[in-house]
Amino acid sequence: MTKRWNVAVIGCGIGKSHIAEGYAKLPDKFRVLAICDLDQNRLQTIGDEFSVERRTVSFDDVLHMDDIDIVDICTPPTLHVAQSIAALEAGKQVICEKPVAGSLAEADRLIAADKAAKGRLMPVFQYRYGNGVQKAKRIVDAGIAGKPYLATIETAWKRGAKYYEVKWRGRWDTELGGVLLTQAIHAHDLLTYLMGPVASVFARTATRVNPIEVEDCAVASLEMKSGALASLAATLGSQNEISRLRFHFEHVTFESGREPYAPGNDPWQIIPASAEVEASIAAVLRDWKPVGPRFEGLMEAYHAALESNGPLPVLLSDARASLELVTALMASAESSELLTLPIGKDHRNYSSWRPRELAAS
Ligand SMILES: NC(=O)c1ccc[n+]([C@@H]2O[C@H](COP(=O)([O-])OP(=O)(O)OC[C@H]3O[C@@H](n4cnc5c(N)ncnc54)[C@H](O)[C@@H]3O)[C@@H](O)[C@H]2O)c1
Repeated sequence: MTKRWNVAVIGCGIGKSHIAEGYAKLPDKFRVLAICDLDQNRLQTIGDEFSVERRTVSFDDVLHMDDIDIVDICTPPTLHVAQSIAALEAGKQVICEKPVAGSLAEADRLIAADKAAKGRLMPVFQYRYGNGVQKAKRIVDAGIAGKPYLATIETAWKRGAKYYEVKWRGRWDTELGGVLLTQAIHAHDLLTYLMGPVASVFARTATRVNPIEVEDCAVASLEMKSGALASLAATLGSQNEISRLRFHFEHVTFESGREPYAPGNDPWQIIPASAEVEASIAAVLRDWKPVGPRFEGLMEAYHAALESNGPLPVLLSDARASLELVTALMASAESSELLTLPIGKDHRNYSSWRPRELAAS
């Protein structure tokens, strides 16, 4: 018999999907006891839809609720660090939406708070879930794929005026970045999830689709620590929305599904180099148990990690790596230079990845 963990969801935009796709699908593992939002309409609609009686506009109230085990932060980006630290200090388990922080300096502050706390913080990367990506991960981790050669990562989504009606979006001060930070961060996490850390980047960014401050188109050329190469392309101006990831290894090529918001789902093409490799793949997948997509898969893995006190399915170090990549891409695009990782504390972008003329504002 495992514990049923009590959750409070803070922010009911994507927070609603955490409930609908995640907690509500796993009723023996989680119970949403409280929701918190400044918007009374959202509180009422979502509270009614998911039968959550406790509704509050006060984040502090939630921290004082002794029966809440997990505080799930889904508020706009600039609130993440302060709310995460406050929830950790209140002794809660914490989940935080991306981006967990607005700079590497802030991410390090969060890591220190997490180390000192009783609970642990799990960043959100739900695109890691779904049968396709999890099968690929198992094959790679088993050593069957071999040497990584090259990856191509496309995030081709569409955003227009309606999306940017929400005040915090589109601005450096409040969204903290554009397509690289807000949308393509998921696919870029999948690159490092399957092919390991990044060594250097050369990037270009542009704002071409919407009248916003932050970038909405980006391309980049990467060298991975392994020596493999990767190309990234991200736009918010695609007329048909897709995510598409192709990973070429010595013994296997993987191609993701194209569902824009669930590229981890089957069907993935898994193409072995030989009959022998095909047999190894079949052997390693013989006992495959289906993995839920997106928040269902993530929250199920999270529950198992809480129960066993084992590693969380997404680590703060993973979120930091994704932000280090964002920092490097922004710095390279601004300077038109190749940028080598890691980005140390003495790098001028350690405390802000915003373009230089805006960093002081
Ligand atoms: N993982 C994903 O796929 C995914 C998808 C969408 C958004 N996000 C991230 O989730 C975060 C929220 O995005 P969104 O699209 O849901 O935004 P949103 O503006 O639709 O929703 C945020 C909600 O937070 C509420 N809020 C603001 N300040 C608050 C406070 N102090 N206390 C309680 N509630 C407060 C707002 O009233 C609003 O309802 C962003 O960081 C975004 O990047 C992640």
